[in-house]
This record gives sequence, C-alpha cells and structure tokens, in this order.
Amino acid sequence: MKTSIRILKLLVLIIYIAGCDSESDQSEGGKQLSIIPQPVKMSLSSGEFELKSSSVIFHSGEELLPLAEYLADEISTASGLELQINEGKGKGINLLLQEDLLNTLGTEGYKLNVTSGGIEIAAAKSGGLFYGIQTLLQMFPAGEECEECEDDEVEFQCVAIEDFPRFKWRGLLLDVSRHFFTTDEVKKMIDEMVRYKYNVLQLHLTDDQGWRLEIKQLPELTTTGAWRVPRTGLWWDREVPQEGEAATYGGFYTQEQMKDLIEYAMFRNVNILPEIEAPGHSLAAIAAYPYLSSTGKKYNVNPGSKFYAIDDNSICAGKETSYEYMEKVLSEVADLFPFEYVHIGGDECFKGFWKKCPDCQKRMKENGLKDENELQSYFIKRLEKILEAKGKKLIGWDEILEGGLAPNAAVMSWRGMQGGITAAKAQHHVVMSPVEYAYIDFYQGDPAIEPPTYAMLRLKKVYEFEPVPEGVDPGYILGGQGNLWTESVPTFRHAEYMLWPRSFALAEVLWSPAESRDWNNFVQRTETHLTRLEQADINYAVSFCDAIITPSKNEKGELLIELGSELEGVDIYYTFDNTYPDDHSFLYKQGEKLPVQKDADTFRVITYRDGKPLGRIITVSIADLIKRVS
Ligand code: ACM
Repeated sequence: MKTSIRILKLLVLIIYIAGCDSESDQSEGGKQLSIIPQPVKMSLSSGEFELKSSSVIFHSGEELLPLAEYLADEISTASGLELQINEGKGKGINLLLQEDLLNTLGTEGYKLNVTSGGIEIAAAKSGGLFYGIQTLLQMFPAGEECEECEDDEVEFQCVAIEDFPRFKWRGLLLDVSRHFFTTDEVKKMIDEMVRYKYNVLQLHLTDDQGWRLEIKQLPELTTTGAWRVPRTGLWWDREVPQEGEAATYGGFYTQEQMKDLIEYAMFRNVNILPEIEAPGHSLAAIAAYPYLSSTGKKYNVNPGSKFYAIDDNSICAGKETSYEYMEKVLSEVADLFPFEYVHIGGDECFKGFWKKCPDCQKRMKENGLKDENELQSYFIKRLEKILEAKGKKLIGWDEILEGGLAPNAAVMSWRGMQGGITAAKAQHHVVMSPVEYAYIDFYQGDPAIEPPTYAMLRLKKVYEFEPVPEGVDPGYILGGQGNLWTESVPTFRHAEYMLWPRSFALAEVLWSPAESRDWNNFVQRTETHLTRLEQADINYAVSFCDAIITPSKNEKGELLIELGSELEGVDIYYTFDNTYPDDHSFLYKQGEKLPVQKDADTFRVITYRDGKPLGRIITVSIADLIKRVS
C-alpha cells in the first residue's frame, strides 16, 4: 500500500516533467544537471569523466582525511562504488584546500571542475569543500538512471562550477518541545538539510509543552518539565491533565547527547542554535519550579490543551530569583553550545499576571519602566548581559523590539518583515523568518486533503521570498530561516513531509543569486530531487501538483469557485455531482468563477497534464467552502 502510493506520487511528477520544456544552463547535449540550490556559475562542456571502483579520492593534507572518508561513504551509498583514499593528487576525485580562494569564494564557496582527467573540488576552507562535495553528490544519477551505477562506474558530464552563498545564515528551526525528536532523528534532519547547503539548525528546546535539555544545576527541568500526559488529536482541543494521571510523553537530551549532536552538526558545517524561551512560553519550566512565575501556582506541563492567558506561563520579571535561574540556565547553555548566538525567545509573552504581580510592579517603579513591554525589555537586557559575560550574542523573536531593543541584540523577524526592517535600520543584525514565506508548519495544499494545521504556505510562495527588503542595508540581513513548529507534527516522518520540497525552495532563496531564480526550472529540478528523497526513504509532499480552490461570494451572497495551480500548463477538471473527476468531466477555463450547481453538496477537482492525472483529487463539501468565505 505504502509503496504503491509512493510510486503513484512519483509517476505524477514524472508525467508533469515530461511536459516541461524550459531550458537552463544546467543542460548540455541533452544531459541535465539538477542542482539545488542553483550554483552561482556553472558551465557544462562536452566530454565525460568515468568514476570507477578503482578510482581514488585524493586529498591535499591529513586534516582533510575525515572529509575524504565522508565522501567515500556517501559515494558508496549513492552508487555502490567503494573508493580508496590517498593523500596527494591524481586521476580521481581531488579535494584541495586553497587559501587564495578566500577572497573570491569566501569561507563556504568552492570550485568544482569535472574534466575527462578527473574531478577537482577546491575551496579556501573545509566548509567550502563540504559544499563542493554536496554538489558532486547531486551529480550522481538519481532514480531509474541509477541503474547505470550497476556497471561499476558512474559517468560525469564535464562541468566547471564556481559557487558561494548569498547569505551566511541559512537556517531551519525544529521545534523539539511540542513533539520530541530523538538525536538520531535530528541527525537525519541534519543529513537532509546539508544536502541543500543549510548551515544553521535552531532547536526550539523549551516551551509550555516540554523542556528538552539537561541543565545540571536545575534537575527538575527535565525530571518534571520534560514530561506531559499523553494525548493525540487536534492541538488546543486536548483534555487537560487529570488528577493523578501519569506524565509519560516526552524526553530530553543529556548534555553528553547534545555534545555528540553538536559535533555531528559541526562536521557538516551546521551550527546548532539553542533556543531557551523566556520570559513567555515557559510553562514546562514553571511546572518544574513554580517559584519562577508571578503567581507561584503549581501547574502541569501542557499537553496541547488551551491555557494561554488562563495559566501563568511567564517567568516573573520582578523577582531576583528569576534572574538567578536564567543565569544558571544560560551559563550551562553558553558552555555547551559553540555557536556565537543563543536564542532567548521573547515572543508572545502574556503579561497579564505581571500587571497584578507586586514584584513586577515594584521592579517597574524602581527602574522607571512605564509599562510591561518595558519590563520585558529590561528582562531581555539582563539576559544579554549574562550572555555577553559568557562571550555570546543574544538573538530573539521580533517582540524583543517592544519596550526597547537590548544594545547588541540580533532580531529574528517572524511577524512579517517589519520587525527585521526596524531592527536593521537601527543597525542590528537580522534573520528574516516571516510567517508569510518561512513557516513550514503551515498547510502546503488544500486543507481538505492535508493533515490539519493552520494558515497556508505553498511551495511557490516560499520560492518568492526576498529576505532583503527595499531600502534596507543588506549588510544587516544575516539571512533567513524556515521554521517547523511541531504542534501538529507528531512524528519525524511527518516532519519530513512538511520540510520537503518547501525547504528546497528556501535553500535556493538563501544560497543562489536572486537574479537566477526561475520557478519553472526549479520545479523541474525538484522532480529529480524528490526521486532522490524517494530513494533515501525520506518523506515529502506533492501538494504543489494539486489544484488551488479559491472560493468567494458574489453580491447576492452566493458561493463562487475559482480554480488555479502552482504549475503552468495544467488542465483542471471538476464535478459537482458526487463522481470522481477525470478528463471527461467539466474542464475549467482560466479566470472563470464557477457558480455552485443547483443542490450540489460536494465539489471535486483534479489537475491533468498532457492527458494524464497530475495532482490528487480534492473533495470538499460546499458547506466547507461557504465556511471558508464566511
Ligand atoms: C513564533 O512563531 N511565535 C515565533
């Protein structure tokens, strides 16, 4: 069953691709190179190099041996070829460190040359070599082509690539609080993200629904705060913890496990950015240490039931003991994580309990703070001092602008671009992560056939993301990040479904020159990469092949239905009569606003390409469509 659905998904894509005729500089003599993200410069030429089982990986010095071994392992997985490794230079794959490339290619850039005499990857730093290796791995045959590999040799088209990133921060966030993911799963995510040249993984380690990092001075954070009562079903509709009910869902990373994960990531040129949420989103910490909140009430870790503005989930900004607590947590975090930044959250802090808290009000009075926003700003500035004393920089969500930004803080702009614009104009560094382009926990296709979540972010919209707004000095925009919040992502398999292919699009936005973006060409390359994911048993979505239903109402209040597609050149067929649509059903004409046929209760729609089904059938009741516009 599973296999047949996956084959169907692939067939659908291959059919789509068969109809594409866009040209790119990635083709020569009928051969295609499907590299994501698109390299800065790539020129294909005639001729080939044949990599054989007798070929050798040469490296320019002892320090490159681990990278050469990594490459040998990856080639073995991609093709079955088991290559030898030698120091030196020769006819095979050559890894070369060349300091003089620093000026032109930076620390993450590389040159990759395939000639009939061999393959050479050169870079100023090992990070660049690592990305050259990723590009080379994308040049191995994918899918059916991979049968070529069975002859004990792989043919590479001659090509010269020069490549470097547009942005230095190319991030993804994984929320391990709302659902817990094991270190093996996080490693798998790292393996997947580095293929597409991401270099920051933000781990959202703490929230109302679970604390996930061992803090040695505060053991209750993980003995109590890491566990909640087991629930499934819709987030926010879950039953609150019952008296005496055991908290059995959860988990956390020991510091030893985290060190291992950090090392794993660093080898792959990925910095792990720890996020410790404060002062809001702190119910798991408060469940462990009730003295942390303004009310001091005893709470349970939240299992996904409603609590916001009901339970006191904010750390009290009045009591000095809160700062002592933050000092303990942030000191251990700063010692553990080598990345220069620590993320302190700062978003969506409910301040209602602060208004009634004598300690908060006293601190406001003593420090001349005019409102609770300024109190939060005072709190964040204290955290910045703790972090700076440990040699770290603070980054937080854009709410840290409210009440005054801490002197050296960087801002992660999520409520649109405006927070980032304001911060950059005030000469603060910014990571752009706006909901409208970068929230990969949102729906990617029609809610009638997608697992429940909220809001909408289609693949094409991600591809349209421009992280540098007009009028802003690009020097302050470190880059961008896609955020995978996991309220509705209970398994790693589903995390993959949400990540891919939208994270292909974001990778290209963050790495490739803005002027090289080309949607049709990107979709073509996406097909090859979905084949690669398929081979690697990584889950992904094909929602971008489905129809888009846009309901509206006319002046009489009657429902009208407009149809569309993310892809060009597709035909859309629909029915109102409770039958499955195919290419014998009504053909939608672009721009039409369809009135609902008399007494119809259900609408169905499917996309076709070149006479073959492309997307999935979407079935949605007329009542639901009316709800969407009410
Ligand atoms: C956020 O999505 N609250 C940062």
